Amino acid sequence: MPDQQLTERLRSDSPRATAEIAAKVADRLVPGDVALLRGELGTGKTSFVRAAARALGVETPVTSPTFAIGNLYSASQCEIAHLDLYRLAEIEFADEAVVDDFLTPERIGFVEWPHDQLEAELLPRVVVTFEHAGDDDREIELRWRQDPPDWPDDV
Ligand SMILES: Nc1ncnc2c1ncn2[C@@H]1O[C@H](COP(=O)(O)OP(=O)(O)OP(=O)(O)O)[C@@H](O)[C@H]1O
Ligand SMILES: [Mg+2]
Repeated sequence: MPDQQLTERLRSDSPRATAEIAAKVADRLVPGDVALLRGELGTGKTSFVRAAARALGVETPVTSPTFAIGNLYSASQCEIAHLDLYRLAEIEFADEAVVDDFLTPERIGFVEWPHDQLEAELLPRVVVTFEHAGDDDREIELRWRQDPPDWPDDV
């Protein structure tokens, strides 16, 4: 049975409102889950990850990965991986192993600027798409993957 998807369309009118949405999303993530963040420059992807990481118990500053493609943080229950593939998206995406080093079943992963091919391969728990909607307004779409229900074993 193919995965099903549930889509929520939300609107944010401030960085604080985006942070509240991020905290609610974070509540629904468990180790092994990956959230992909799509949208133009400055729409709030890193701000969202920062607020989600805070909600998950990260106490150190969360900054855009600059010299590496990703950063790791300690949270309450697990580690958090934050990747920014912007520069990789500009070149041919060479090696999926680059992200595998960061994204493990024990961590919750957040990936900005995912390559299209990666979106399918990573089976993200949620894809968050940001759009500018004037001034501080943003449209934020959450596309959740719904795994098919487990069928009871035959008796
Ligand atoms: N409603 C909003 N939600 C989120 N950020 C907002 C909002 N309104 C204004 N901002 C501002 O927009 C900027 C978003 O920057 P941020 O680095 O989070 O974007 P980004 O999508 O990660 O950009 P990039 O593509 O460069 O990585 C911040 O300066 C933030 O304060
Ligand atoms: Mg960013």
